[in-house]
Amino acid sequence: MQTKVFQPDQLAAAAAELAAGELVAFPTETVYGLGADATNEAAVKKVYQAKGRPSDNPLIVHVADVATVKQYVADFPVTAEKLTQAFWPGSLTIILPLKPGAFAKTVTGGLNTAAFRNPRNQVTLDLIKQLGRPIVGPSANTSGKPSPTLAAHVLHDLTGKIAGVVDDGPTGVGLESTVIDLSTPTPTILRPGAVTKEDIEAVIGSIDADHHKVKPDEIPKAPGMKYKHYAPNAQVYVTAAADFKAAASWARAQGEPFGLMATDQVLAKFPVLAADYRFSLGDSIVTASQRLFDGLRHYDQLPEVKFIFAEEFPAVGLGVAYMNRVAKSAGQQYFVQK
Ligand code: TXA
Ligand code: MG
Repeated sequence: MQTKVFQPDQLAAAAAELAAGELVAFPTETVYGLGADATNEAAVKKVYQAKGRPSDNPLIVHVADVATVKQYVADFPVTAEKLTQAFWPGSLTIILPLKPGAFAKTVTGGLNTAAFRNPRNQVTLDLIKQLGRPIVGPSANTSGKPSPTLAAHVLHDLTGKIAGVVDDGPTGVGLESTVIDLSTPTPTILRPGAVTKEDIEAVIGSIDADHHKVKPDEIPKAPGMKYKHYAPNAQVYVTAAADFKAAASWARAQGEPFGLMATDQVLAKFPVLAADYRFSLGDSIVTASQRLFDGLRHYDQLPEVKFIFAEEFPAVGLGVAYMNRVAKSAGQQYFVQK
């Protein structure tokens, strides 16, 4: 299959592919998604095939408005009313109980709930409106690889497997949306993202967060949390800014090439290291989040690199989501002075 690149002014052609049951990747403010008509079971099945995704891992349903969500759900609690008013369109995905048979099993992985999201990207909101139906959209990467923050990442993973990608440039946030379960008595964050626990509690009061409790042998609440994620070929170590010199010495003693993913302040301590091995995370948690997945993909193109030292940030605000992703890419390995 030839994979087309659609510009934002070519949405009619992209919507026609979706209407015909084909897959089209779409931009959002977080990461690129892999779109299919959520009401077309055969099309949704193709999403799992193209990504190599386990079929028990449910998909997010992307909608252009709140009214569409209300057509499908058994209950739209007051927490959903308040959170959608505060954060939609934006990086918050809400899980709600479904009317029986609202979506095919392939969408929900057999659960009686579904995840809904209203992305903050006008091109994609227009695409959904043109199609006239919601679109499912997992991140548009091969399963287990870092989520795509550029159309080029989508093409790298999925060329020949999907009909096209709508290219709207780099995504803004760079990390996937916050997922909150509103189908349980106490709302629970299952995946941290740019909308933080504090942001949510300011709107609906005290909630739970479950993303630290997932152990490999448990069945986690968000099925996607149990799979190996974001793992590049090299071993990643989460590394405190103050420990980069020690980490580099340790890697040199092993005789193995290594790469850094760090803020410019840290990179400045390594003026003679080759540019390819010094990936900049910019100067803040915001730029680090935008660039994290691009950096992991960068090193996958340098097979000689055996270790990647990725900078640690305080786990507050957006830092909770960044640390969740970087620690996963490292298999929870932190560099400690050896
Ligand atoms: O920012 C995002 O959320 C991106 C963009 C494309 O919208 N999408 C995304 O989708 O990250 P995906 O499929 O890669 O991650 C969705 C997560 C998975 O961990 C999945 O298991 C969980 O949400 N999920 C989906 N439906 C669920 C449900 N009904 N109950 C619990 N978890 C659910
Ligand atoms: Mg994903």
